[in-house]
Amino acid sequence: MGTKTETAPTTYTAIYTHMDKFVIQGGTPLHGAIPTSGSKNAALPAIAAALLTDGEVQLRRIPRVRDIRTMERLLEDIGTEVQVNGEDVTLQTRQIVSPEAPYELVKTMRASSLVLGPLVARAGRARVSMPGGCAIGARPINLHLAALEQLGATISQEYGYIEANAPRGLKGAHIRFDRITVTGTEDLMMAATLASGETVMENAAREPEVEDLARLLISMGAKIEGAGTSTIRIQGVDRLHGTDAPHIIIADRIEAGTFLIAGAITRGDVRVTGCVPEHLDALIAKMQQAGVQIGRGADWLQVTAGGPLRAVDITTEEHPGFATDLQAQYMALMTQAEGISLITETIFENRFMHAQELLRMGANIRLEGKQAIVAGQTTLSGAGVIASDLRASASLVLAALVARGETVVDRVYHIDRGYEQIEAKLIAAGADIQRVE
Ligand code: EPZ
Repeated sequence: MGTKTETAPTTYTAIYTHMDKFVIQGGTPLHGAIPTSGSKNAALPAIAAALLTDGEVQLRRIPRVRDIRTMERLLEDIGTEVQVNGEDVTLQTRQIVSPEAPYELVKTMRASSLVLGPLVARAGRARVSMPGGCAIGARPINLHLAALEQLGATISQEYGYIEANAPRGLKGAHIRFDRITVTGTEDLMMAATLASGETVMENAAREPEVEDLARLLISMGAKIEGAGTSTIRIQGVDRLHGTDAPHIIIADRIEAGTFLIAGAITRGDVRVTGCVPEHLDALIAKMQQAGVQIGRGADWLQVTAGGPLRAVDITTEEHPGFATDLQAQYMALMTQAEGISLITETIFENRFMHAQELLRMGANIRLEGKQAIVAGQTTLSGAGVIASDLRASASLVLAALVARGETVVDRVYHIDRGYEQIEAKLIAAGADIQRVE
């Protein structure tokens, strides 16, 4: 059959303990095509959705990144059979064996809380470790819990775990999120597919990943309308079945955006292929204002540096605004622009760790609360820097591509959580990057 199941590491910590570094020689403009992988943040809820049915859920274009392996591992613990064949993943949850997400996994990946909704809906019970703080802020899941309570679940908290119970099933309700939450919307959407009656979610996240999840759930028999808008309506059904046809995950817009910035920051000429240009409109508009030329086709974007780069301010917002997941990479770009740019982070309270490391490379950045003031046209020089979260790490790699001399980026496991073979893709476009242990 040619199907192979990847062997999972023996302990969860084994997933995270290897300490690779990138050694990057800067100064080469990138040229050529860079392909986009499937979206990590669309793939994570899609995998969790396999908990909703005893049928077979077939997924395609699943990026082989660490967070995905962690999620697959979590589902295996819960009772799912997981078959991985390259980027094709088949999942089948005949039975929920243990409706629990342990601390060891939740602490390394907050998206583990995506199993909460599906487990309560299917098994009537879920036990998920409290997420705790993470590098980019407190990131609670109170909104997921409040909404589940509205669907009739009883929530309790003990020994660092959150327990949700709904032994007689969930009931549709009218929910208005106090604040827009991406995984909260996804978690609730999954739960509501199996609740009795209608659920309306207002102030829902409009991210393309939410829409992609709705498409998958609909192909499993769910009744969902309005995904991609701020009001989503779900008519509960008694059961969901496996996917009618394999579900193809959307392109990773954050990865594509990172490569666009790589082209622009190195003053290169890069075509990012296999992406969805509309998902990147906010970034494209800012880059164009900054003087970068961007061509587009149905599924590609081409960046050509052209004239001088100008400083342009950004404020992160929920989709369709400027994505917080591209803020760090954009900051690296602004260190090279003429003038001063103001970068305002409104989604997470502590998402400027890359600024400290960029300073070590010679950038001129001042932090004032939610704002970073970046004075541009700085000559960056290679230094030893430490990756602190996924997107912060990407911004350091981008800075290293234009820095003079050699940059060593430590703790590359952060980047491996969400970028599929980033170094191979950049090397193919001319970058000088070596991965060393
Ligand atoms: C998703 O995280 C993404 N993760 C993040 O991507 C992304 O940065 C974020 O959305 C914002 O776009 C996945 O999709 C797996 P939120 P999520 O709930 O859902 C607060 C990356 O680099 N909040 O939309 O966890 C929260 O603290 C990652 O790939 C509550 O207060 O983010 C934050 O300030 C990192 N209570 C804001 O809302 C809650 O119950 C938005 O968070 C939930 C969230």
